[in-house]
Amino acid sequence: MKFENMFTPVTIGSVTVKNRFVVPPMGNNFANGDGTLSDRSKDYYEARAKGGFGLVTVEATVIDKTAKGGTKKALSL
Ligand SMILES: Cc1cc2nc3c(=O)[nH]c(=O)nc-3n(C[C@H](O)[C@H](O)[C@H](O)COP(=O)(O)O)c2cc1C
Repeated sequence: MKFENMFTPVTIGSVTVKNRFVVPPMGNNFANGDGTLSDRSKDYYEARAKGGFGLVTVEATVIDKTAKGGTKKALSL
């Protein structure tokens, strides 16, 4: 099989990931307007974990209201 290492575990520091498939960070704009995780966000990440990815990277989080990106929702911290 080509790329068979993709299906083998890899250890990164103290964490062992079951395969080499990684979801990179992607801006999905599913968070709530106040920056908290929404049910839609949870469903989105859960679907990718159930799909078999070894590692799922979440998108950016807002550390200050002036740092908010995106255009869909206003931040009201
Ligand atoms: C917070 C964050 C959000 C991102 N959002 C997107 C995105 O919406 N679409 C996209 O193509 N890449 C996005 N990227 C970049 C991807 O994670 C990735 O680095 C890029 O697609 C290049 O992938 P490659 O190195 O495998 O070619 C984002 C990166 C970060 C850090």
